[in-house]
Amino acid sequence: MTHRPAVPHDAAPLHVSGAARYVDDIPTPTGTLHLAFGTSPVACGILNGMSLEKVRASDGVVAVLEACDLPFDADCSPSNHDEPLLAKDRVHYVGQPVFLVVATSHHLARHAARQADFDITEHPAILTIGQALAADSRFEDGPRVYQRGDAGSSLKHATHTVHGTLHMGGQEHFYLEGQAALALPSEDGDMLVHSSTQHPTEIQHKVAHALGKPMNAVRVETRRMGGGFGGKESQGNALAIACAIAARQTGKPCKMRYDRDDDMIITGKRHDFRIEYRCGFDTAGRISALDVVHYTRCGWAQDLSLPVADRAMLHADNAYFLPNVRIESHRLKTNMQSATAFRGFGGPQGVLGMERIIDHIAHHLCMDPLSVRKNNYYATPEQGAQTTPYGQVVEDSIIADLTDTLVSTSEYVKRRTAVVDWNAQNEVIKRGIALTPVKFGISFTLTHLNQAGALVHVYQDGSIHLNHGGTEMGQGLFQKVAQVAALRFGVPLDMIKITATDTAKVPNTSATAASSGSDLNGMAVKVACDTIRDRIAAHLADLHNCPVRDVQFANGIVTLPEHQLSFAKAAQSAYEARISLSATGFYKTPDIQWDRIKGHGRPFFYFAYGAAITEVAIDTLTGENRILRTDILHDAGASLNPALDIGQIEGGYVQGAGWLTTEELVWDDAGNLRTHAPSTYKIPACSDRPDIFNVALWDGENKADTIYKSKAVGEPPFMLGLSAFFALSDAVAACGPAYPDLNAPATAEHVLAAIKRARNV
Ligand code: MTE
Ligand code: MOS
Repeated sequence: MTHRPAVPHDAAPLHVSGAARYVDDIPTPTGTLHLAFGTSPVACGILNGMSLEKVRASDGVVAVLEACDLPFDADCSPSNHDEPLLAKDRVHYVGQPVFLVVATSHHLARHAARQADFDITEHPAILTIGQALAADSRFEDGPRVYQRGDAGSSLKHATHTVHGTLHMGGQEHFYLEGQAALALPSEDGDMLVHSSTQHPTEIQHKVAHALGKPMNAVRVETRRMGGGFGGKESQGNALAIACAIAARQTGKPCKMRYDRDDDMIITGKRHDFRIEYRCGFDTAGRISALDVVHYTRCGWAQDLSLPVADRAMLHADNAYFLPNVRIESHRLKTNMQSATAFRGFGGPQGVLGMERIIDHIAHHLCMDPLSVRKNNYYATPEQGAQTTPYGQVVEDSIIADLTDTLVSTSEYVKRRTAVVDWNAQNEVIKRGIALTPVKFGISFTLTHLNQAGALVHVYQDGSIHLNHGGTEMGQGLFQKVAQVAALRFGVPLDMIKITATDTAKVPNTSATAASSGSDLNGMAVKVACDTIRDRIAAHLADLHNCPVRDVQFANGIVTLPEHQLSFAKAAQSAYEARISLSATGFYKTPDIQWDRIKGHGRPFFYFAYGAAITEVAIDTLTGENRILRTDILHDAGASLNPALDIGQIEGGYVQGAGWLTTEELVWDDAGNLRTHAPSTYKIPACSDRPDIFNVALWDGENKADTIYKSKAVGEPPFMLGLSAFFALSDAVAACGPAYPDLNAPATAEHVLAAIKRARNV
């Protein structure tokens, strides 16, 4: 067994007792002011003006700011500088911030924000993918295309073909802690910002810009988030900038948090996609040609949509070798919230498209989809590695072995027969079962983001202060990295103090995203710890006249050939000898290079793999459905912490299954989001978790040289949720002869519609 200890999340006792401190829990100084945005009531139009008298006269209001009151260029975009903090001249979606209220309490600010009268000349809004295509409303000049071989002519020569369209909805992040920021003005115009963000450096950068200050005037601190899921990579910028500007203007600490409705109406979500495909294959379902088109609904501003759509393209193969393939991607601009990062960052949408194609092929050939999957899997390195459509050699594929193991531990074959038997005997309740694999590329596709820094201090009593650029959002990054530090110094975990992410300690960090938090920060921390440890070792070797390599650190004890002392005594001794006990560490991922325009290179350091089998039941009278059992085998390499990794896998699966089943976003024809609260937007509840839920870790090491040979685990398991969707497709297919063409999310309504299609009625 190569896995490391399954210690609990460092803050678990604080989480469950309510003592964990989030931005909204930080005690605020007296006189702190509270902010709320006044937002656009229309989806598209010219903002002629607004009357804010009632807002200004409202109780508790201290100041009201419009775009023209902002001292510098306040832009919230993480990419294209196309997101003014407050709308100027035009409005682009229902919910877009137009003015900012500063008041004495949160409730008074929100109340006042609703008192505005707008003068807007409404224009027709572009809401749907169809409308965006008709208006040629997009973020790049035309579609992006990645291709290999000749998909067109291979399609013509294929023995069999299928074609179809899949609609998939977006997803609300529904982090339990809403967006929040607190800005504390200090001397000389400097600003300290507490932000619930995955990306403190970005907050620092954007706030500095909006204050007309250099980055060194702004410090950003993030102790933890109550969930981020990609929704706090860029969506926290507006609150932090607003607080900083209001704090500068009033000289008072300023705080802002979105209530749930505001959060859902203002912030971006997962991109919804329409995917069209034409696929050619032989009698064994082996794919010879694939032509797939992604239509991506990006919302009003660019945000992270281009890299999200790129990643969807990079996962359009999922775990399958595609000899001739053409992938076309349209990034469409629409009058709604600007869609943003969400666990998987476009990967899930690309993978869902591919898995739909496999499912369709299997139905066409009357084969078990599992056989079609296995017939198309990437070869193992021993069989001769194959390359992805974008030219990366798949050197590490374990998907075939992993699938075989899961098939046997889950008794898939026997259970599939039982499902077929059940369906033969039952008219109303149908069952379905499906296995879906995942192969997910690890690294930021923007190569320069693959870097991290750390700062470690050892105090003279031997206690250790740990800091790095990663942020904690519940995923357990801080504990994993603390485990690395404890291992490097050979000390118990409780000697390591985990501290808040702070731009003044580690500068120029990347977002904690792309699942690379522990890969990057774990390595940077290792470097910093080793520097200090080697200094202590050299000092002790010198003192006791022995070779440095004979100084060993384990179990809180430093051992030399003829001496032993506690780590604390060793630190004390080094301090007295005037040895520096503080160090930085830095890491950058090796061996990656990527040309996103050509769509060629090695964007990923390695791949993470996994597979899930889900069994479901549907009620064919109502379309209602539930998950009966799920079995998962997931590859976290040599796990840094199996308890946390299994937590990530369970949570990822449930969140992925939620995306594809109950979570439905509905906008009306005027562009109002109608599902902006838990009353209408249904995330999985505890009771929606599979009754039988068997989750295991693959026993293997990462082939790539990562921290202790572990693998990233944050996002890949999200895609295991796809097995629930294809189990539903399987159950629906049992209702009739036609392919059900199930759309996502598979709500009761969509399942019922698919049953009708399957029955050809
Ligand atoms: N797990 C929890 N509990 N909460 C979160 O917000 N975010 C996910 C994943 N797991 C998230 C989570 C996303 S989108 C990413 S990119 C990774 O965690 C980020 O953390 P990591 O790089 O440390 O895995
Ligand atoms: Mo995760 S979507 O990369 O924050």
